[in-house]
Amino acid sequence: MNQPRMGGIATINAPAYVKQQKLINWVAEVAALTKPDQIYWCDGSQAEYDRLCSEMVAAGTMKKLNQEKRPDSYLACSDPSDVARVEDRTFICSANKEDAGPTNNWTDPAEMRNTLHGLFDGCMQGRTMYVVPFSMGPLGSPIAHIGVELSDSPYVAVNMRIMTRMGKAVYDVLGSDGEFVPCVHSVGAPLAAGQKDVAWPCNPTKYIVHYPETREIWSYGSGYGGNALLGKKCFALRIASTMGRDQGWLAEHMLILGVESPAGKKHYVAAAFPSACGKTNFAMLIPPVGFEGWKVTTIGDDIAWIKPGADGRLYAINPEAGYFGVAPGTNDKTNHNCMASMRENTIFTNVALTDDGDVWWEGMTSTAPEHLIDWQGKDWTPAIAKETGAKAAHPNARFTVAATQNPVIDAAWDDPAGVPISSFIFGGRRSTTVPLVTEARNWVEGVYMAATMGSETTAAAAGQQGIVRRDPFAMLPFIGYNMSDYFQHWLTLGEKLAAQGKQNAVELPKIFCVNWFRTGADGKFVWPGFGDNMRVLKWMLDRLEGEKAGGVEHLFGVTPRYADLSWEGLNFSEEQFDLITAIDKAAWKAETALHTELFDKLKYHLPKELADVKLALEKQLAD
Ligand code: OXD
Ligand code: MN
Repeated sequence: MNQPRMGGIATINAPAYVKQQKLINWVAEVAALTKPDQIYWCDGSQAEYDRLCSEMVAAGTMKKLNQEKRPDSYLACSDPSDVARVEDRTFICSANKEDAGPTNNWTDPAEMRNTLHGLFDGCMQGRTMYVVPFSMGPLGSPIAHIGVELSDSPYVAVNMRIMTRMGKAVYDVLGSDGEFVPCVHSVGAPLAAGQKDVAWPCNPTKYIVHYPETREIWSYGSGYGGNALLGKKCFALRIASTMGRDQGWLAEHMLILGVESPAGKKHYVAAAFPSACGKTNFAMLIPPVGFEGWKVTTIGDDIAWIKPGADGRLYAINPEAGYFGVAPGTNDKTNHNCMASMRENTIFTNVALTDDGDVWWEGMTSTAPEHLIDWQGKDWTPAIAKETGAKAAHPNARFTVAATQNPVIDAAWDDPAGVPISSFIFGGRRSTTVPLVTEARNWVEGVYMAATMGSETTAAAAGQQGIVRRDPFAMLPFIGYNMSDYFQHWLTLGEKLAAQGKQNAVELPKIFCVNWFRTGADGKFVWPGFGDNMRVLKWMLDRLEGEKAGGVEHLFGVTPRYADLSWEGLNFSEEQFDLITAIDKAAWKAETALHTELFDKLKYHLPKELADVKLALEKQLAD
């Protein structure tokens, strides 16, 4: 229970099941700095979740949705200024600037600590500090790691309960001397005595700060998504990528899916796409007509932690326990399983409220309801939208839902041993240039493809949308260290795995590059995507199975011919196929010039192998 304030300092009163003095001391230190009124140790129970949600309903932060339409679900609407990850306010404060690299914002750690000390001093006054213990990955798994988030946001506490294995049991794994990543979060809105709170407290000044050497996270000013749910991007990608570099494993912005053929042959595939490019949809894909007997199951939809096994295989877990997915565009056709997942027990953020107490977002149904309350609390009708362009839901509106609600969750999703990965897929959102699918001829070429990936920007991050930016490995906003060192880490791991695998007759995973987003002269996507991506997936699996499926070698890999994909149940002509697979030499010359620009930026520690692949590509283009 909440502890009363005593003499201006909240009492620590750690529950008896918290056995680690280092953790208790750290909580006391942060409380002495931030000066919350109370400290609350989360146990992760359903009763606690229900109580915090009711308190937020009373405070106006959330609305309870109609119990019949959307049981046990809530809608939270954020401050209009706090709607996405703030990449320009995200910092990697390593001791040396070069270790953060040219793709990250860097500030000297001592200077940053000084700035943050000023901001965090007293920042939780008038609020409760929640102590949120969580495991990224199955409790006790050798691939998992533990974190503890101290936050003054109850919205964060309840979302963390869905997104991670959160609660009391984490302390058993932690014991008296286990390691944890300390994460401190404040919305940066202290309350003076008697001051009335707002529905979504936040601060226009924002700092999302990582100290890779000490593996600490400090986040200030935002209550939204990846800025505030620190287990996700901050820990599971930025800090974990540095842990992976030091310890020989990978923390990746990847979904993991299982795919089983009618004959019962199963593969696990990990795929990296930039934010809001359909990872959740791909992870829950329903095979189309013509693929009867095929099964696709989900291990994770956003992040993969992948460690090498003694046999030379890579084993992956989903460190998360829920999905924090983009709602707009999700519907029964694009992602039926996702819609089914959020039928109940869901927290929606920044979607619209229907007159009967349910939710709606653009693309949920083909016809919009006649009247809604939009994500900013204003009346919305299709006529208003037509006139003003107002969106009912924010384009980065989200749902938070437990993975266990996914009807196609993989049986091994919670397996502490992880699942063996047989291939990696990298894909950007490109309306031109990049073909539907290409298989790299070897690991180095695959790393090159991933390293030079570009994508048109989306609403998941604040900033201009629709411009192509290089997003190596879909990790540009998420890498916790120097990007070139990260490329080298992939190359070194490939070498090690190849050597180890040789002894066990295990092949390296194959690497593929895909692009679902090429458009025709009318500006519309040519490839139907969604379930039909199964056609491409099947080709990849056939290639894994002793190259049963054919393909042609071109400039930078192997691509299927029209006849190499299965077209049953889809009317897709050879001309359309040519449109999305054609390799235009002029476009590729321009593309490699952009690779040169990227490599110039990343020249510090850029692996020579990658520069060599580029040279070979340029040579072929010149011929
Ligand atoms: C996410 C993102 O929230 O990539 O997953 O922005
Ligand atoms: Mn993501």
